[in-house]
Amino acid sequence: MKNGDVAPLSDGTKTGTPSLHESAEELSAETREMHRALASLIEELEAVDWYGQRIDATRDEELRRVLAHNRDEEKEHACMTLEWIRRRDPGLDELLRRFLFGSGPIASGSAGHGDGAGDRGLDIGTLRGEEGRT
Ligand SMILES: [Fe+2]
Repeated sequence: MKNGDVAPLSDGTKTGTPSLHESAEELSAETREMHRALASLIEELEAVDWYGQRIDATRDEELRRVLAHNRDEEKEHACMTLEWIRRRDPGLDELLRRFLFGSGPIASGSAGHGDGAGDRGLDIGTLRGEEGRT
């Protein structure tokens, strides 16, 4: 398979992305679906960046407004895709609740305010809860 080719499965299904790092046949259906979503999220965020650059560069005011509209739609697409991912990844869900929508210092690990998780600061996730077990 050449670099950039889409990885086919034995049943002929293609993932639609060239960036698998393992043989597609070794991956579960859930991992392949997550790969599709993550690749889509990357593409949406790249589009936000590209539109932002074009908005800066264009000398046509009407085109600038069109590009800004398109950029904002890509942000919506990225958010929808991230939400799909969050609903299927409990670890990411916990981190997003901890880090998003707050106003404190981001690196403290308590920037977010969802579900009170932001009060814990940076830790080793579930390993901390294992300390007291016998
Ligand atoms: Fe999009």
